Amino acid sequence: MEWHTFLVVVHIIGTALGVGGATFAEIFLLKAVRDGEIDPIESSFMQVTYRIVRVGLALLVLSGFGFLILYRFTDLEARLYSPLLWSKLTIVVVILINAILLQTRRIPLWLGSALSFASWYAAMLIIPLRPAIMPITYLEIMGWYIAFVAIVALALGIIRKSLGIKF
Ligand code: HEM
Repeated sequence: MEWHTFLVVVHIIGTALGVGGATFAEIFLLKAVRDGEIDPIESSFMQVTYRIVRVGLALLVLSGFGFLILYRFTDLEARLYSPLLWSKLTIVVVILINAILLQTRRIPLWLGSALSFASWYAAMLIIPLRPAIMPITYLEIMGWYIAFVAIVALALGIIRKSLGIKF
């Protein structure tokens, strides 16, 4: 199996664990806080889910840097300057900082969970959307990303309200 294919396989497994985990973390959070308290079983489910997300992110960062090294030493070097790649790396940094702020309770839960959910889906969709959105600049992508986070925060707010959840 050639290196590029191997990296794509690891990257897709990382995406499945990361995006899938971030989605279930949101679902478990809504279910857990619905009765006003997070009981030990609910908390253990969420801890396992967060661990899966971290494994996914580790696979993505390792295989992602594998791609960058491969690009550097093959004829795909031009892709290193793609605004898609740099906006995705920016979003990955947001995912990392947001996870630390959530863990240390330094960000409101409504904002932290919306940032996490939206950022994982944005990171997953940026590169596959390449043919449909190019040409586009880094700032344009960041503008769409911020709008997407705002829409997700609004949607999650409406869902929480309809379930009678306040946070
Ligand atoms: C939240 C984290 C991330 C997610 C969800 C994600 C998701 C994806 C997806 C779905 C693809 C398309 C794979 C395909 O070709 O079918 C992709 C491609 C790519 N990702 Fe990521 N990724 C993440 C993090 C990273 C990081 C941290 C890097 C670099 C350090 C990176 C570098 C790349 C590169 C270079 C490609 C293009 C591969 C190619 O040549 O086709 N990704 N990513």
